[in-house]
Amino acid sequence: MHQDATTGDPRHEDATTSVAGEPRHRDVDEETAQYWEELYQKRDRYWSGRANPVLVDVVGSLPAGTVLDLGCGEGGDAIWLAGRGWRVTAVDVAQTALDRASAAAATAGVAAGIEFRRHDLTRTFPPGEFDLVSAQFLQSPLEFPRAEVLRSAARAVAPGGRLLVVEHGEVPPWGRHAHPDVRFPTPQETLAELDLDPERWVTERLDAPRRQATGPDGHVGTLVDHVVLVRRRP
Ligand SMILES: C[S@@+](CC[C@H](N)C(=O)[O-])C[C@H]1O[C@@H](n2cnc3c(N)ncnc32)[C@H](O)[C@@H]1O
Repeated sequence: MHQDATTGDPRHEDATTSVAGEPRHRDVDEETAQYWEELYQKRDRYWSGRANPVLVDVVGSLPAGTVLDLGCGEGGDAIWLAGRGWRVTAVDVAQTALDRASAAAATAGVAAGIEFRRHDLTRTFPPGEFDLVSAQFLQSPLEFPRAEVLRSAARAVAPGGRLLVVEHGEVPPWGRHAHPDVRFPTPQETLAELDLDPERWVTERLDAPRRQATGPDGHVGTLVDHVVLVRRRP
């Protein structure tokens, strides 16, 4: 694994696949891959297929460009973005999620606008710079070096571009009995973890909007999103 010339981050790889097109073994943590594979294989479809509301809100006012979707899941955001003219690189550790996302993109007629790539972001990170880097609910119950991955995400933002991090602010009402003690970082804590140079970055959003959503049992409840939107100065 070589050091990236611009970032010095060993996870910024420019060749993350072998000649056979499969990720090299050491580039994927088996426990991580297995956890997410098993989650996706529990159901034919795990997520709604719709784009995340904060992403829609933020991107609605931006001109289309290049976007990196980290932990793209079944591709709801990537497909929505590609449909609006963005050139999308969408990555996930779960091959099942990527396969579903790729099939959904073909059905939606936007496959040409999306490059799906398998990465374990704790091991390798997609090369390049993007007008938007989006991390939507890139949260894991496994050991996950979240701050490091988010700092890599910030390094992947092009001059004038943005990093959007949206995370759960609270466990959804239908999951609280299973996770009574979970506390998520506040937007302010996430911003601090990013450790951005204030001379080079402007904070555009730092808030915790609430929204209504329907849980797996059909009950409607209120969700809290933690939102960090920062712009790298041109
Ligand atoms: C909670 S889901 C969110 C999916 C999608 N962004 C959404 O909002 O619907 C988290 C996603 O991150 C992926 N993920 C978790 N750990 C990862 C890792 N180390 N590298 C890449 N993807 C990872 C999972 O496979 C899963 O698809």
